Amino acid sequence: MSAFKDSILAGKVAFIAGGTSGINLGIAKRFAELGARVAVAGRNPEKAQAAAEAIGGQATGHSCDVRDYAATRAVMESVVSAWGPMDIVISGAAGNFLAPVAALSANAFRTVVDIDLNGTFNVFRGCYDLIRKPGASLIAISAGQAVNPMMLQAHACAAKAGINQLIRVLAMEWGAEGVRVNGISPGPIAGTEGMARLAPSEAATKAVTNRIPLRRFGEISEVAESAAFLCSDSAAYITGTILDCDGGSQLGDAGSLGEQRS
Ligand code: HXC
Repeated sequence: MSAFKDSILAGKVAFIAGGTSGINLGIAKRFAELGARVAVAGRNPEKAQAAAEAIGGQATGHSCDVRDYAATRAVMESVVSAWGPMDIVISGAAGNFLAPVAALSANAFRTVVDIDLNGTFNVFRGCYDLIRKPGASLIAISAGQAVNPMMLQAHACAAKAGINQLIRVLAMEWGAEGVRVNGISPGPIAGTEGMARLAPSEAATKAVTNRIPLRRFGEISEVAESAAFLCSDSAAYITGTILDCDGGSQLGDAGSLGEQRS
């Protein structure tokens, strides 16, 4: 169920890094429904093309690895050549796996930090002179692990914590130019590769669900609504915020009865 029935993003140009699958593809589809012209980018060219077709309308699919600044910048330049300055840029590409620090090679740690944190820097720094000023809205996809540490996730926790601070610094540095920079921190979202990796069994899913105040996984569409709000004029005075779209997961379960709850 959507709070937005009108074409609140009509006329806007949106670029979504990582928008070829999962939560980011859901955001892309919703933004197109709300009137935006949407360009998505991912590593796999076939997947990017398929995503553009799934989004429909004028959507375009592009191939780049956010770890590669020049390639990412080139894709964004091509979007601007076709459609003019970008109004919305979302950095959502992410990589993750469960592993204890003792099993992480330096390359394994670096790989996740490169995709998540350096990738977000590359997308945001790369778009700086390609976005509409004032009026642009930038969003990075973070995670609760940026704030609350999680075992087997040192790489992702460190990367997402860095993303939160990058969001806040950019909100300060670019605010005077009328550019808003925010984050969304999704909780456990159903049907995503991330949750398949983090809660791979029924027992793990149940344990995670028991710790969520709203007692259910979120839907991709619910994260898309948060993104639509942050990119709309309704959020015109909001910058430097990391919006938790997580059923209250960040509240933790200290003081609860944990597994004994129904
Ligand atoms: C230990 C591992 C590992 C594992 C990979 N590595 N998986 N180490 N345990 N389970 C190590 C490899 O051995 C290698 O180190 C290094 O990581 C790089 O691996 P590659 O496979 O060469 O890298 P690449 O092909 O670039 O793939 C990146 C990836 C992969 C992150 C490893 O999983 C991927 O492409 N993921 C994209 C999709 C994804 O993860 N989606 C979920 C996002 S969810 P060595 O030393 O051997 O060379 C999400 C939610 C976050 O991000 C919420 C929590 C914060």
